Amino acid sequence: MEKLTTASGIPYVNHEDTQSAGARGPLLLQDFILHEKLAHFNRERIPERIVHAKGSAAYGTFTVTSDITSYSKAKLFGEIGKQTRVLLRFSTVGGEKGSADTERDPRGFAVKFYTEDGNWDLVGNNTPVFFIKDPKKFPDFIHTQKRDPFTNCKSATMVWDFFSLNPESLHQVLFLMSDRGTPYGFRYMHGFGSHTYTLINKENEIVYVKFHFKSVQGIRNFTSAEAKLMRGEDPDFAQRDLLNAIEDGNFPKWTLKIQVMTPEQAAAYSFNPFDLTTVWSQNEYPLIEVGELELNQNPDNYFSEVEQAAFAPSRIVDGIGHSPDKMLQGRILAYPDAQRYRLGVNFEQLPVNRCPFIVNNYQRDGLMRVDDNGKRSPNYFPNSFDNIKPDAAYARPAEQVHQPVADWFDRNAEGENDHYTQPGIFYRNVLSQEDKSRLVSNIAESMRQIEGPLKEEIINRQLCHFFRAEFSLGMAVMNELGIDPGDMTRHMPSKK
Ligand code: HEM
Repeated sequence: MEKLTTASGIPYVNHEDTQSAGARGPLLLQDFILHEKLAHFNRERIPERIVHAKGSAAYGTFTVTSDITSYSKAKLFGEIGKQTRVLLRFSTVGGEKGSADTERDPRGFAVKFYTEDGNWDLVGNNTPVFFIKDPKKFPDFIHTQKRDPFTNCKSATMVWDFFSLNPESLHQVLFLMSDRGTPYGFRYMHGFGSHTYTLINKENEIVYVKFHFKSVQGIRNFTSAEAKLMRGEDPDFAQRDLLNAIEDGNFPKWTLKIQVMTPEQAAAYSFNPFDLTTVWSQNEYPLIEVGELELNQNPDNYFSEVEQAAFAPSRIVDGIGHSPDKMLQGRILAYPDAQRYRLGVNFEQLPVNRCPFIVNNYQRDGLMRVDDNGKRSPNYFPNSFDNIKPDAAYARPAEQVHQPVADWFDRNAEGENDHYTQPGIFYRNVLSQEDKSRLVSNIAESMRQIEGPLKEEIINRQLCHFFRAEFSLGMAVMNELGIDPGDMTRHMPSKK
């Protein structure tokens, strides 16, 4: 038997009845255990993630299967067979913490590698591209994915208004509206780092890189109708599926592959290689195998290990770097800021986020400091007492400021705005005939929900984008929506 105690360890007996003035009387203020129970309960909720609030995670192992040391000196890639512990959190994007797992949405694919050089977070999605290419647009975009300020309901009108006014979204919209927008849980989908990152080798030479996690289970999706049904039958389908598979010893696996581009190739590439709305051709930049990621351990406590987990693209380790991708640059700032708000300034000391290797710095105090706070050691640098020194071996090469920054102060160049070529290729070459017809029917199903006086304008503006990517796609969506081509020209969209 173990004794029941208060939070401060005081054993007590009356867990279910409060001290009162007589058996029927009013309660006594002195029953501090009642206060403790109710007060703690009142504070159980913390802010949910502003995006990706609904998610599931598991621990696992990353094992190197191929040698990429010519590209990266990162210790986790150090030798074939090397293993690193990981935490992988999957999520939907727009829904609240209690929303259904099978909503049409991209899926988050966030991996924390607990490496001996610190924690590396690769925070990606199940899609290689994204809706926007400038971080300033992110809050506006996300508002359209959440609830309407008046109706407090999700709104297809907001969604398609934003998409149609931001044609850079088209590539990702086609992914989203295909059956990849409703994956069968989390095990049967690929993951992507999505952004361009850098790898840095021992000679401090850099290459640009895209990370791909290929599902060993293969790809499996729900159709729109199946996903809708599952929202009612089991809103937590993906959580249950992942948890049960791991409990049963049926460990899901992904193969990590990379695409590599030299700075010279990047300068000459036909698309801006740092534009998150585009992909790199796999014919020109083939996938190179790196290792295998296996999920093999369920967290014991959801709140402690999943809700309190904090992933941030800012956390990169020696041998891996960022790139000039504007979206990635914006994310470097956003995540730790969100986590200080959501979890408090000392969130990196929470066990799930704590680096299991050496952590030495002069950050002290702050709300909920839960470690020894550096004990008696100096809290300033430089000092004459401790022996903590910056290690020059970890200096980041100058190339990481990315030399081709001739136009130092600039914004998105008009010439970079080809929003249609790659979506057209995706539609024509990647999707099967069956995928295409389901894509068209999913688009029409969603666009039919556009409401209000600007309905026709929004629909026509978006149809133009489909037409510009691929004429037959525009025709198919128009037919599916039952729109007469003559009607469309009457409502040609205002130019954006
Ligand atoms: C500039 C654009 C973006 C901004 C400002 C942004 C911001 C955020 C913020 C504030 C969070 C919540 C973090 C937390 O509370 O722990 C988050 C979560 C997340 N974001 Fe983004 N995001 C952006 C773009 C992206 C992109 C392009 C991807 C994927 C390629 C992505 C993937 C994720 C994932 C997977 C999570 C959940 C991480 C977890 O499981 O805890 N985000 N984002």
